Amino acid sequence: MNNEDNPVIRALLERRSIRKYKDEPVSNEALTTILDAGRWAPSGLNNQPWRFLVVKRGDPRHEELAKCTKYARIVRGSAACIAVVLEKAAMYSEMKDHQGAGACIQNMLLAIHTLGLGAVWLGQIVNDQDASLSALTLDPKLYELQAVIALGHPDQRGSSDRKPLADLLLEELS
Ligand SMILES: Cc1cc2nc3c(=O)[nH]c(=O)nc-3n(C[C@H](O)[C@H](O)[C@H](O)COP(=O)(O)O)c2cc1C
Repeated sequence: MNNEDNPVIRALLERRSIRKYKDEPVSNEALTTILDAGRWAPSGLNNQPWRFLVVKRGDPRHEELAKCTKYARIVRGSAACIAVVLEKAAMYSEMKDHQGAGACIQNMLLAIHTLGLGAVWLGQIVNDQDASLSALTLDPKLYELQAVIALGHPDQRGSSDRKPLADLLLEELS
């Protein structure tokens, strides 16, 4: 089997951040598939500390969230935003729970891509935890915001590149 025939490898290589969306909603069925992909991410001790809040365009929290980031245009244009938070009481290790959140977010990005939708991982929005959690009406004593995934039907082709593998590999394969 070459990489072209492997749907997971293909999705990994093809996924790009999408920051412009059509004016079309995303179905609850698609959202459930995406959230399920996140749910199945690995976590340390399988503690699954992530919690999700979906805020669709039209919900007043969608606009409140837009005001918390310099990427307001992306949030406003998205059909929905998925806030990924960690429930503090469910955490066991700062580092490992954050790593698990990353795996969870990437699972959702890949699911979104394979559903023919587009998304971007918004990280800058977590800089002001209090403002972002308050926009979501979530208690900062209970939750830590990890990222917001803005998504919708893509209205652009993403583009990005990567460093060559040789620049990343600390030692040649033997
Ligand atoms: C932790 C993290 C934070 C990010 N924050 C933002 C962000 O705030 N705004 C944005 O437009 N893209 C953000 N991105 C998306 C990256 O810019 C993007 O993944 C990178 O440029 C590679 O492009 P690609 O996703 O199209 O391959 C973030 C990605 C990660 C992993």
